[in-house]
Amino acid sequence: MSLFVTFEGPDGSGKTTQARRLVEHLQARGYSVIYTREPGGTEISEQIRQVILSPRNKAMQREAEVLLFSAARAQIVAELIRPALAAGKLVICDRYADSTMAYQGYGLGLDLAGLRAITRFATGGLVPDLTFYVDVPAEIGLARRHRGATNRLDQKDVAYHTRVRNGYLALAQAEPQRIVVVDGTRSIDVVQQEIRARIMTELNHRRSR
Ligand code: ADP
Ligand code: TYD
Repeated sequence: MSLFVTFEGPDGSGKTTQARRLVEHLQARGYSVIYTREPGGTEISEQIRQVILSPRNKAMQREAEVLLFSAARAQIVAELIRPALAAGKLVICDRYADSTMAYQGYGLGLDLAGLRAITRFATGGLVPDLTFYVDVPAEIGLARRHRGATNRLDQKDVAYHTRVRNGYLALAQAEPQRIVVVDGTRSIDVVQQEIRARIMTELNHRRSR
């Protein structure tokens, strides 16, 4: 049974930790699961990721950034996600189009309708069946985030990340059927239990249809 699930959240919300644990859990239960991430996930998309994140590219324009994220997305959708779904697999993707709305739309202030049109073009209209939005205040996410090598997008301030978070909350409010808001300030185990329960409900519901 195919299912397209995405994880979203501010940087450091814990979504990668949660997505990986969910993948292990589902694989242990015999589900055929593909785990991937954005920007990246295919050879071409990973090359685009390097361009987006390189600290050398300080002169990158916002519009150029959007188009690069979208180019990486177009590639992963066509090369990886659609074929996996067509083969009946469960696809779990760490970030997807909601990131563009939250970061480039609400964070940078680019036109939301324009971003939607670009995303529709890039994805051919592929929307996740279910999205877990792991919510934490910007300060908590930034404090949790791994220190060490920083990329170009890590230079943004708390005000930007707060706009991103509020953007996600607005997106979730507009699409409550698809986007499940999970309180990411709790322990990793508690958050994971809630996510597992939600996805099992979804899978059982689909099986009985
Ligand atoms: P993201 O993918 O959202 O940026 P990660 O999953 O990489 O976040 O987690 C960032 C850091 O926060 C990691 O060191 C991780 O172990 C830690 N972390 C994740 N979830 C929690 C949590 N619920 N409570 C405390 N620390 C967490
Ligand atoms: P990454 O290292 O994958 O961070 P994280 O663990 O927080 O997901 O970097 C991805 C960065 O790119 C992250 O700051 C969010 C940002 N991003 C956008 O701004 N727009 C997008 O469309 C996507 C997919 C990511």
